[in-house]
Amino acid sequence: MKDTSNIQMARRYLAFFAGAKTIYNIHSPFVYAFAENVLEDQRQYYAFSGIEALRQKLFVDKNVISVTDFGAGSRVNNDKKRAIRDIAKSAVSGSWKCQLLFRMVLHFKPKTILELGTSLGVSTLYLSMADGRSQVYTLEGCPNISAVAKRNFGFFKRENIIQKTGPFTKTLPAVLETAKSLDFIFIDGHHSHAATLQYFQQCLPYCHEDTVIIFDDINWSDGMQQAWQEIQQHSKVTLSIDLFHMGLVFLKTGRQEKEAFALVQRKWKPWNMGFFR
Ligand SMILES: C[S@@+](CC[C@H](N)C(=O)[O-])C[C@H]1O[C@@H](n2cnc3c(N)ncnc32)[C@H](O)[C@@H]1O
Repeated sequence: MKDTSNIQMARRYLAFFAGAKTIYNIHSPFVYAFAENVLEDQRQYYAFSGIEALRQKLFVDKNVISVTDFGAGSRVNNDKKRAIRDIAKSAVSGSWKCQLLFRMVLHFKPKTILELGTSLGVSTLYLSMADGRSQVYTLEGCPNISAVAKRNFGFFKRENIIQKTGPFTKTLPAVLETAKSLDFIFIDGHHSHAATLQYFQQCLPYCHEDTVIIFDDINWSDGMQQAWQEIQQHSKVTLSIDLFHMGLVFLKTGRQEKEAFALVQRKWKPWNMGFFR
């Protein structure tokens, strides 16, 4: 599957932006609180500078590792060699997105977090350091990438991260059985239509009415856009929040009708929206 060109992405963004709301025109108290505490909070939390210093180190790390590339469609290619700095630049979420995740953890206070797609562990560190009392399960397919992430978790002395290495098809069922109930799920790996829907369906029985499920890169390809639309329409999803680069769904029961919000920051800036990793 081909990912979306810059022109297509810009068109999609303009369409999204035209329909998006800011904190000033949200009537739902739940969504208003999200906009206020997550989207609009400009504070620099204690953990940010340390993790961003790690990112800078990864950006200049010339060490080369063999990468098991699962790709969007899980095409396994064991021969790829990549410098850590290249992985840090291309696969790791930017600070805007990571800090948004950090504030989501502060806001929703999940006890059990699941991340599909650890990469070098930068987003995992943000998830973990927002609340040391939470338990973060993070899954990564490539053993060598996972080893770099492990080193990074050790550097920050994280004790609330459980790492599982192997294809999601193997690690996910086992982690779901261990965790039993999930409060917060971040799906950021294997960006294909079928796989995204499959992981969503697999996680659903382990969710409850306060679980938040976050999908990364919902506009990355036609397939991801289609998956996001189908997930929003799923009978269990009663509320969704589209932030363009990521989408959140909620399974709250007792709501009169399905609601879908597209949100932008009040003082919108392209560099704040995750356009530049
Ligand atoms: C976009 S990166 C994750 C980025 C990370 N969450 C962050 O924000 O820094 C996706 C990762 O998922 C892994 N991955 C993709 N498909 C996979 C699969 N089917 N099974 C296991 N890992 C997979 C890739 O190896 C890659 O490291």
